[in-house]
Amino acid sequence: MSIEKLPLTLTINGTKVGPVDVPVGMPMIDFLHGYLNLTGTHFGCGQGICHACTVVELNADGTTTESRTCIFGAHAFQGKSIRTIEGHAERNAQGKVIRLTPVQQSFIDHFSFQCGYCTAGFVAGATVFIDGLKRTPVRRAQLQSAIENSLNDHLCRCTGYVRYFEAVRQVALDTPGCVID
Ligand code: FES
Ligand code: FES
Repeated sequence: MSIEKLPLTLTINGTKVGPVDVPVGMPMIDFLHGYLNLTGTHFGCGQGICHACTVVELNADGTTTESRTCIFGAHAFQGKSIRTIEGHAERNAQGKVIRLTPVQQSFIDHFSFQCGYCTAGFVAGATVFIDGLKRTPVRRAQLQSAIENSLNDHLCRCTGYVRYFEAVRQVALDTPGCVID
């Protein structure tokens, strides 16, 4: 029995990928792992619940949204642009990381994670949250609840979430235009 394949073209971390023939129905996370060796996106529940597999989707209007790669097939991303965890930090010409994003650095500074299995998803979620605040700032009094609501769907088996939330709060406070007094 042959597996039906269809061409897929998309942009990942700023680089056009494809067209490449991909099995119909292959989950996006399997495409990232198996075809591109982008293994930093983690497979957790596989059912759309834990959000460990979340990547950033870059929309045509300049906004960003979160996308889970376990429940959506690779072809659902046809023509789209996404950023995986490998595409957040700034790299030099040799591909070596030279600067983390404020979200990544803040997670490290606040000791936000332990095993790190959930962290790629949290980086994606927090990045989308901060992007949203740049467009629609919140009042300082509402910041904590906004963070908790935004990251509420991301599950972590190790931590109490507090240090993740503190890290995101610091980024929001340090990023001009995100918080209104
Ligand atoms: S692995 Fe995708 S939501 Fe859990
Ligand atoms: S740090 Fe281990 S699951 Fe979140």
